Amino acid sequence: MTKQGQEWFVCRIEEFDQISKKRFQVQDRDIVIIRRGEKFFALDSFCYHAGGPLFMGDIEDFNDLSCLVCPWHHYKVHIETGNMVYQSIDPHNPKNPPVWKNSGQKQRVHRVTVRDNSLFVTFSDCTGDLQSDQYNALEYRQRWQTN
Ligand code: FES
Repeated sequence: MTKQGQEWFVCRIEEFDQISKKRFQVQDRDIVIIRRGEKFFALDSFCYHAGGPLFMGDIEDFNDLSCLVCPWHHYKVHIETGNMVYQSIDPHNPKNPPVWKNSGQKQRVHRVTVRDNSLFVTFSDCTGDLQSDQYNALEYRQRWQTN
């Protein structure tokens, strides 16, 4: 169990000199840290939809929203909010171009702080269950241990 609001050291910032994302085990969570320019984001590693390896997904921009695209079914998760992002067509006006929408937060996201050339994470204090929480269970995470 972790104290709310506590910061946890993750790594030195140099780890991201050559890469834009990396998976970490921090306390009892399995997270992926993403670098976009000078900003860092953290999400739980496994996809809310069916537990896919979101941490292995590509980072792509949709309508100015940076998302991780899950390799299993290609759902798009906004890296800043954990919202599911999708394109919608109006069935009553099918000639209109599709519009980008989101269906609210599905994936748990955490705050990343940069200090003294190090990254620290503060776990989400969002109360209530998010869909991704079920895949943060130890039994599930152990299936994906890499060693
Ligand atoms: Fe990620 Fe289905 S498990 S899109």
